[in-house]
Amino acid sequence: MRVFLTGDCHGCFDKLYRFQEEMSNLTKEDIVIVLGDFGGLWSGSASEQEALDRLNQLSFTLCFVDGNHENHDLLETFPVKMWNHGKIHEIRSHIYHLMRGQVFILAGRKVFTFGGGLSRDIVHGVLDPDDPKFPIQVKEMNEKGWFYRILGQSYWTQELPSEQEMQEGLKNLKKHDHTVDYVLTHCAPTDLERHILAFSHPKEPDRLNRYLQNIAERTTFQKWYMGHYHTDVTYRFFEAYPAQCVLERFVLLIDT
Ligand SMILES: [Fe+2]
Repeated sequence: MRVFLTGDCHGCFDKLYRFQEEMSNLTKEDIVIVLGDFGGLWSGSASEQEALDRLNQLSFTLCFVDGNHENHDLLETFPVKMWNHGKIHEIRSHIYHLMRGQVFILAGRKVFTFGGGLSRDIVHGVLDPDDPKFPIQVKEMNEKGWFYRILGQSYWTQELPSEQEMQEGLKNLKKHDHTVDYVLTHCAPTDLERHILAFSHPKEPDRLNRYLQNIAERTTFQKWYMGHYHTDVTYRFFEAYPAQCVLERFVLLIDT
């Protein structure tokens, strides 16, 4: 069994097909985990269903933690099942959403997952389609070239975790004596995000950053992996713990 990680897809899955071609010996025992912003569940359209059906035919099992660019309402319609000791949404027979706050045991390695993230492409607001002013607001925003998203169509409040999800994560980590092998998330703990964004677009920590910071401080792990920041970088000068952002590359996490 091999477990690979890769970064955000945003509904474009070419790299998964290229990976299948390059790695001709993969089987469904092998797993590729997308570190959020999978983007395969967005509009629920027929073409999206076909794309998922095609992805289900890949030579490997496809998993993802959720990012801030997912249709969380749609995700929640899929059945919750147990898989390798953690909860998943089963999207297809070989496509699984690794739910928040779970400890999966893959080839004897413990992998903690916690998706979600705060969208930053909403600087000019989230529009409510039920608001009578909605058509006018859309027209104005488009004319001004502003960045906005639409509630329930391109923005979902579940992008940040609920109290229940955060408590479930803490409870599951406690069950494993706060010790896992790897942490897989979409966004980063407060201190790590400050380090990542120091020279680009620093932001105030949100409640998910703060929650993950708490996890980072009370959990023993080998390495923290995340997507979200759209870069392939290992943070060699971040001294608190080993951390890596993944985007295009495929990182071999487990090989047994
Ligand atoms: Fe992304």
